Amino acid sequence: MTFLSARDLTVSYPGPRRFLSRGPLSQVLKGVSLSLARGERVGLVGVSGSGKSTLLRCLLALEQVQGGQILCEGRPVEPGSVSALRWYRRLVQYVPQDPIASLEPRMTVAQLVTEPLLRLRVDCTPARRAEEALDSVGLDHRFLMRRPDELSGGQAQRVAIARAIATRPAFLLTDEPVSGLDMTVRAQVVQVLRDLSEAHGTGIVMVSHDISVVAALCHRALVMEAGRIVEDRPMADLLRDPQHPHTRDLLNAAPPMTAAA
Ligand SMILES: Nc1ncnc2c1ncn2[C@@H]1O[C@H](COP(=O)(O)OP(=O)(O)OP(=O)(O)O)[C@@H](O)[C@H]1O
Ligand SMILES: [Mg+2]
Repeated sequence: MTFLSARDLTVSYPGPRRFLSRGPLSQVLKGVSLSLARGERVGLVGVSGSGKSTLLRCLLALEQVQGGQILCEGRPVEPGSVSALRWYRRLVQYVPQDPIASLEPRMTVAQLVTEPLLRLRVDCTPARRAEEALDSVGLDHRFLMRRPDELSGGQAQRVAIARAIATRPAFLLTDEPVSGLDMTVRAQVVQVLRDLSEAHGTGIVMVSHDISVVAALCHRALVMEAGRIVEDRPMADLLRDPQHPHTRDLLNAAPPMTAAA
């Protein structure tokens, strides 16, 4: 059963300015289609500039598309007001790349984790939900009283994940969530994502330059090149038998790895 789908998405930006005129439009997404089932963990890989972040922003309803459509359980998803998007924000949450920069420094962890519940008017006991979310990311309840500057990089990313799962979303979308962390912490945070996905059936879409991180987490990989999805395969197949030359280049650039079970 499809939860979230995109059909023929196109996005263009004005090219570099020419003398007294705007440059020609450059097409950043050239008809991208995909379909995500509940609970699936999907990696989005490709070289810099291939359109990964743009596609993720479209799926987060943060980017106006020029063509195509996104549907979530049959309902159209497009940029709009806070109230018009409330239903979608409860279901699909974002985990930032740089949690220290994204977490409001004056707020406590308790405030940070409960804020989306209040903003999105989720019917629950926020304090209880915050404790539950901290449990899911392996942080002690004593962290509730801390502020972002009292957290390590790995702890801050766990808080960012707790904040994202507080509404009990069906999907987490995330752009390079572990790229700022050192190798050991990176593996721990990937494990946190994997554990909570397995415990609660939360789907994940993760953008990464690093196909080894995607291999450790995801069932399926989408490979992007120049605004198109050029490969969409189960992770294990992709590792065993990459079809597209671009996928082979990405695999050659990565350390040895095995696919997520
Ligand atoms: N707001 C914008 N205005 C103009 N061009 C943009 C804008 N956002 C992205 N682009 C261009 O769109 C292309 C795709 O960008 P995007 O950020 O989606 O790539 P990416 O695959 O996420 O790259 P990276 O791996 O470096 O993060 C790039 O050529 C980029 O310069
Ligand atoms: Mg990007």
